[in-house]
Amino acid sequence: MAAKPVAKRLVVLVSGSGTNLQALLDEIERTGAESYGARIVAVGADRDGIEGLARAERAGLPTFVCRVKDHETRQAWDAALAEAVGAYEPDLVVSAGFMKIVGKEFLARFGGRFVNTHPALLPSFPGAHGVRDALAYGAKVTGCTVHFVDDGVDTGPIIAQGVVEVRDEDDESALHERIKDVERRLLVEVVGRLARNGHRIEGRKVVIQ
Ligand code: GAR
Repeated sequence: MAAKPVAKRLVVLVSGSGTNLQALLDEIERTGAESYGARIVAVGADRDGIEGLARAERAGLPTFVCRVKDHETRQAWDAALAEAVGAYEPDLVVSAGFMKIVGKEFLARFGGRFVNTHPALLPSFPGAHGVRDALAYGAKVTGCTVHFVDDGVDTGPIIAQGVVEVRDEDDESALHERIKDVERRLLVEVVGRLARNGHRIEGRKVVIQ
């Protein structure tokens, strides 16, 4: 008899509304963790009082908050975040709107399996204002990038991208909403494939088996 597929363990990190987290939760609920390939075992944040944490609590998931200001140094915060995430023994860690750059210790533990989603077509418009910067530049197409995190700002190997056209009448919020529509579907698809099939990283190239 074939062995029952085992769902991989995901820790998701959020800083805001958590609609990407919700898309993962909805898909896992819809298909079942074994067929999707993964279950979310905990949700972490760098601040309290956000909708992303409320979504996790409503789904009955453990949550934790690790705030920079509660630590003496950025390095101590990074080590504490790595510890908090590590306690849940994740196979993959997903930054879904987590607005912090992690440090050396976090990457030493989770590098190569720490996935981020960014609202622009990297390497264009990295950083905290990917949507605003693309709009200000006058780009005609933008989109979203799901990538592995390395020690730069949004510079890690790209796993998948989705394209969104910029409209003349767009403001930052309208454009971001259309990007997030594409982004949520892409993130759900990519995380599921990584979990089910495994991957390797060859230089800048991500190969999903
Ligand atoms: C997403 O668009 C994500 O790409 C972006 O924050 C949004 C979170 O939305 N992340 C960044 O800008 C990171 N540089 P959500 O909280 O509704 O999932």
